[in-house]
Amino acid sequence: MNDIAWGSDEELTDTQFYNRLSDIEFLSGLLKSTAFGSSPTILLTGVRGVGKTALIKKLKRDLNERYLISYINLSQSNSFQTGNLDRSDIINLIFRELIKSAQEKGLTTTIKKIEKIIKTNNLKLDNIMSFEGIPIPKMGLEEDYSKLSEFVMDLPQKIYEECPEEIDGVLLFFDEFQNIKDLNEQMDGFLWYLRSKVQSQKNVTYLFSGSMSLKDKLIEDIAGKNGAFGGRILTIEIKPFNQVTTRKYLQTNAPTLQFTKDGFDRFYKCTKGIPFYINTFARLLPENEELDKNKIINIFKKSLPLLASHFTITWGRLTLKEQKIIVSLLDMPLKRVEIANTLHVTSGSLARPLATLQNLVLVENDDGKYSIIDSILKYWLLNYYNEKGFYPFRSD
Ligand SMILES: Nc1ncnc2c1ncn2[C@@H]1O[C@H](COP(=O)(O)OP(=O)(O)OP(=O)(O)O)[C@@H](O)[C@H]1O
Ligand SMILES: [Mg+2]
Repeated sequence: MNDIAWGSDEELTDTQFYNRLSDIEFLSGLLKSTAFGSSPTILLTGVRGVGKTALIKKLKRDLNERYLISYINLSQSNSFQTGNLDRSDIINLIFRELIKSAQEKGLTTTIKKIEKIIKTNNLKLDNIMSFEGIPIPKMGLEEDYSKLSEFVMDLPQKIYEECPEEIDGVLLFFDEFQNIKDLNEQMDGFLWYLRSKVQSQKNVTYLFSGSMSLKDKLIEDIAGKNGAFGGRILTIEIKPFNQVTTRKYLQTNAPTLQFTKDGFDRFYKCTKGIPFYINTFARLLPENEELDKNKIINIFKKSLPLLASHFTITWGRLTLKEQKIIVSLLDMPLKRVEIANTLHVTSGSLARPLATLQNLVLVENDDGKYSIIDSILKYWLLNYYNEKGFYPFRSD
């Protein structure tokens, strides 16, 4: 079982990392075209736990030698954690990650030059905060923001031009990009700004990745006909493992699991081929023991709190109304008025909470009907109710 990563692992070893061969081949082909000055822009989508981050990190390892690669995780900004993400935080994050990766790559002369540019451009510096010895530009006024964002966004191409001998290009991997929604009314403007910068850089490739439902308005805002990158971005969906891949994966990486045929079918049904669930569940199964359908069902029920663990934090942060909306959707997808009737509230009062639930990728809207996206969340709630007789609603 050593070859099965934990569900929380992001950096998988090459033995733990299974398959995705065609995705890797396709994506690295695209990314490598950066070397010829024809940098593509990529949007990587896929449901929670499907393996986007693991894939990006693998690409980073594979391409690290000839490219300067920055991994920028939007959920890692302080202000995102406290719930007030701002454009300037994203710019700051990009700056830090660029410097960090340049440092890791040993591009010291280039970094020295960057320091000089910061000083000569009169960018205000925050001397209290510094990153790897380089003071972090400070923003107070709108004017500072514009100046700094221009500087930071032009930096990747500049870095390339400083050292074309050492690198073939710069790759910026943005992860958890769905969090950009937290910019609220600033989001659209920011996306268009980003697009203008992305377009003007020949040797820099941008890859945006995040958990999005395919019906997500964000995908429309980014890649749709009238979206900021409309027609100029390649959208690639990372899919769950199919049944055959899942079987081969477990045979190779967890040969001590002995499924009967219907035991395996049930395992696949429970995990839906999503690597996060496959790995978490597989690690909870007994080894060298026959696993038939009934056993899988039993262990699945017991494992639900763990399988749903990434939902429990999000669930706990929801308002009571948002939680009740989710519960109203347990049986079947509903229209907004139908949810309103169930909850005895007006339809208008549901606009905000439904938008929040969609932003959190918990609920999607398909042709006017709302449904719960992830079946594990559904099973967890149903099972909770079956065992305790009530749902885990917040008590205030
Ligand atoms: N190719 C793979 N082979 C084996 N296991 C994998 C693979 N990809 C992902 N996993 C497993 O799934 C888990 C979740 O993957 P990852 O964090 O990359 O998903 P994600 O799509 O980024 O999810 P999120 O949307 O929540 O960020 C990993 O910790 C790992 O255990
Ligand atoms: Mg991820």
